Amino acid sequence: MAATGSAVGLGNIWKFPYVAGENGGGAFVLVYLGCVALIGLPVLMAEIMLGRRGGRSPVNSMARVAVESGRSERWFLLGLLGIITSFFLLSFYSVIAGWSAAYIFQTASGAFRDISALQIVELFDDFLASPWRLTFWHSVFMLITITVVSFGLHRGLERTIRVLVPGLFLILIILVLYSASTPGFMEGVRFLFKPDFSEFSGQAFLVALGHAFFTLSVATASMLIYGAYLQRSASIASTSVTIAFLDTLSAILAGLAIFPIVFTYALVPDVGPTLVFKSLPIAFGAMPGGSFFGSLFFLLLLFAALGSSISMVEPMVAWITERWKISRPKATWLTGGLIWLFGVGSLLSFNIWQEKRLLGWNYYEIVDALVSLLLLPLGALLLAVFAGWFMTRQASEDELAMPNKRLYQSWRFLVRYVAPLAVLVIVISLLR
Ligand code: PFF
Repeated sequence: MAATGSAVGLGNIWKFPYVAGENGGGAFVLVYLGCVALIGLPVLMAEIMLGRRGGRSPVNSMARVAVESGRSERWFLLGLLGIITSFFLLSFYSVIAGWSAAYIFQTASGAFRDISALQIVELFDDFLASPWRLTFWHSVFMLITITVVSFGLHRGLERTIRVLVPGLFLILIILVLYSASTPGFMEGVRFLFKPDFSEFSGQAFLVALGHAFFTLSVATASMLIYGAYLQRSASIASTSVTIAFLDTLSAILAGLAIFPIVFTYALVPDVGPTLVFKSLPIAFGAMPGGSFFGSLFFLLLLFAALGSSISMVEPMVAWITERWKISRPKATWLTGGLIWLFGVGSLLSFNIWQEKRLLGWNYYEIVDALVSLLLLPLGALLLAVFAGWFMTRQASEDELAMPNKRLYQSWRFLVRYVAPLAVLVIVISLLR
């Protein structure tokens, strides 16, 4: 459940609907499903498998598994790479999570009622223009994350996740039921499910592939650490399939909650990242019960982000406590504090640092590109290559313990050939 909480995040509820909207809807959704099943899932299984085989913090797990297979201990660097990726990713992820937290209250207060669409858009622009408000909400979000992780695995993570993940699905279902009662429902369904490949481009394929990795939380050491915490008796294959299934389900449900509202209120589906912060509030302002459903929606976003942020702090905390023998609360405050600090740079990039650019990119754009264009693809590639080529066949077969040999062979084929090739295609095309 924790891994599902990690996978289901802003990527599902904030990003998936707008990338689907920008890339033509149904055709994109279909290709995305293929990417999750054939490329994301095998790599997810590989990462959980490596974590459980290692049984320690990501850095030491990787070293241990590599040595067991007669390889260099330096593969520990792959664990470290994941931790670094989580670090930078969470630094700006938390800023966006903070927007969601702010918008719970903004919506509940009725601020979107009886004002024009233009004014609603301005409200968000004003919010982004204020470094103090952004810092406040970024801090609130990091404080919640730090508090949960510092309480430890059982009292912190488990207890929180047990409420968070079911709560998240419950809210999603309530919102979908609401959407089903709006006149735009069928149009939303058609938009999500009717594939129209005439609008589909190679670029859209790459977006689908990149998003498949991101949404499953691979290559950030999160799955390495959760793998390490996984019982020996659990099947890695069925655990991974469940995670991928629930992750995909939540993205589709988010689409089903959002697009009917978009169409009912005559908004456009392809506005990009501001879809949920600028467009949806227009609908929330106009619909009956909009303050309630609107705040519920942003609460959902916050829950989703929290399950993810916990899983990004945990790998580094596990490593620090294991390596330097310092207490968990200290390690968590240190990790979380540093992530917070790096995040401040990102939030300033929406206002006073917006035009401070290096090679045309501001701070946020640099960190985002570092993570999405370099660290995540590199991590996914190395995980697949290690699991497929460097780890002995016996070790992976033993750890995955699949009842069916064919299934194991298919997994191995996908991580050896398909996944590395797919990542290379993404990277090469991005560099062009
Ligand atoms: N899977 C998360 C999402 O879809 O929002 C993003 C994510 C969370 C990536 C945690 C990596 C991670 F470790």
